[in-house]
Amino acid sequence: MKYLILSTMVGMVFFLTACNNSATEQHVKTDSMASKKDWWKEVVVYQIYPRSFKDSNGDGVGDLKGIISKLDYIKSLGIDVVWLNPIFESPNKDNGYDISNYEAIMKDFGTMADFDTLLHGMHERGIKLVLDLVANHSSNQNKWFIEARKSRKNPYYNYYHWWPAEKGKPPFRQGFFDINGSAWTFNPATNSYYLHYFSQYQPDLNWENPKVREEIFDMMKFWFNKGIDGFRMDVIPFISKDTSFPVITPEILKEKYNGDWAQYYASGPNLHEYLREMNAQVLSKYTDMSVAEGAGVTLETANKFVDANRHELNMLYNFDGVSYGYVPGKFKTPEPDGYKLPGFKQIYTRWDSVFATKGWGTIYLGNHDQPRMVTRWGNDSPEFREPSSKMLTTFLLSMRATPYYYFGDELGMCNIKFDKIDDYRDIETLNMYQQIKNKGGNLQEFLNAQKISARDNGRTPFQWSNAPNAGFTTGTPWIKVNPNYATVNVEDEAKEPNSCLNYFKKMVLLRKTYKDVLVYGKYQLLDPDNPKIYAYTRGNGANKVLVILNFSKDHVGWDIPEGMQVKPTPLINNYNSFLPGKTISMEPYQAVIVGLQ
Ligand code: GLC
Repeated sequence: MKYLILSTMVGMVFFLTACNNSATEQHVKTDSMASKKDWWKEVVVYQIYPRSFKDSNGDGVGDLKGIISKLDYIKSLGIDVVWLNPIFESPNKDNGYDISNYEAIMKDFGTMADFDTLLHGMHERGIKLVLDLVANHSSNQNKWFIEARKSRKNPYYNYYHWWPAEKGKPPFRQGFFDINGSAWTFNPATNSYYLHYFSQYQPDLNWENPKVREEIFDMMKFWFNKGIDGFRMDVIPFISKDTSFPVITPEILKEKYNGDWAQYYASGPNLHEYLREMNAQVLSKYTDMSVAEGAGVTLETANKFVDANRHELNMLYNFDGVSYGYVPGKFKTPEPDGYKLPGFKQIYTRWDSVFATKGWGTIYLGNHDQPRMVTRWGNDSPEFREPSSKMLTTFLLSMRATPYYYFGDELGMCNIKFDKIDDYRDIETLNMYQQIKNKGGNLQEFLNAQKISARDNGRTPFQWSNAPNAGFTTGTPWIKVNPNYATVNVEDEAKEPNSCLNYFKKMVLLRKTYKDVLVYGKYQLLDPDNPKIYAYTRGNGANKVLVILNFSKDHVGWDIPEGMQVKPTPLINNYNSFLPGKTISMEPYQAVIVGLQ
């Protein structure tokens, strides 16, 4: 270990020397014209799923006081911004993504006073707080919907989208979490169907109604006036709808939207007008940081959201990366022989190039809608969990995009891989199971796939120590704890200099120390067809590093490209071994960042 620290420090000294020559500065300036420097491009965002972070009162559910008690841990990671999943009042059909009161705190999580303490505690430590804006839909228990569904004459009726039953059945729309897969549910009192792109408990708000936009913008101001620093915007590309609800046949969907309902939903007629309005009325007055969940957004449409000249949002995260490696047409079912690295590289390379001259990207491999990154993209076997987790951390923190890092990934937490449907809590898994069952489909095949892809894999309690329930709660946790907490936990990893946790901190520090290179420097893919090694350079002119990542469990020799000369000591390395030469031998899942001479 001493060797690792020493070699890293020596590497940094070598590297700094290279950074000091004037030819280098010239290059940095030229390229930075493309990417204007902004604080939100330089941060590392740490995402916390409050339900599973830390329970303070023994009810088995994480809460705000729990987060408050761990602020020093969060600070110790070196991250700059925390994104909290929804903390607002909610019946929790979709764990807070169904909000019944946008200006109140969910009872399970605590009180407004707890929130104020939390925000203050973060700001005191120099950490910014980003909240989740869930405004495409509300809960069906929101007072607006409770009123709306009473009668067509109710003033809130037009806060939602309806299809009057006298016109017959509404044209099909997909409801992602609906047992029958439909986005329309009949409401007898109004003799009409209401629209819900997710479950029947999440009716879509009618943004075409100016009153609704006003309510949402006022609510955003309420939170900004409390002092929050920005919003992550849940499925924000879906907010505008063609309210004539034209028939979308499978053929149209295929031809115009690549067969993907999300792409259709993300192309509403007034979407960008509403985002500009939101920017003018709210964002521009309060914050520089907004990030869209870019569901349905493509390489072609991305810059419409984040090109600075359009005055809409700052960042978005796309789904191309995390959707890769699933069998087409089969719900989140991994390819039987795993994903192919060249395709993976292509996706991240294309998304880098979209933002080469305008806009700015994000990068993530895990979040509350994804399984654990080490299981899905690395290797969670006892032998390779650690190196592959560190390798993925190296990838995330060495790309030209703002990293959104999911809590627990810094420990190398893995999928829990439930055997039984009864262990799951997520509406997506439970309703899809029911849908397949009703159709007489193959339930075992579905359960096998969910072991790799289910969202609940990323939602199990954070592993603080090897005390009962991983130190998460003194009660019964709302979802089972991964039994590997006995060894994978903060307390043990903090003591082990070589742990995933300490590696993450080092990598965060490295990204910050070499901002010009690791944040803003040009990204250049090398050896695109190599099936095991992902290699690229970052930087400009003489001010460059080489990143070599072995995405396989094999020892692999990788030939340095002709004319390229690496420095003797890496800046970071998840193994002790590194012998520069014409061919570099890479250990299983080894990750190295090394300066170029
Ligand atoms: C987003 C959220 C997800 C939620 C869905 C519906 O995709 O990230 O967790 O279930 O929207 O709100």
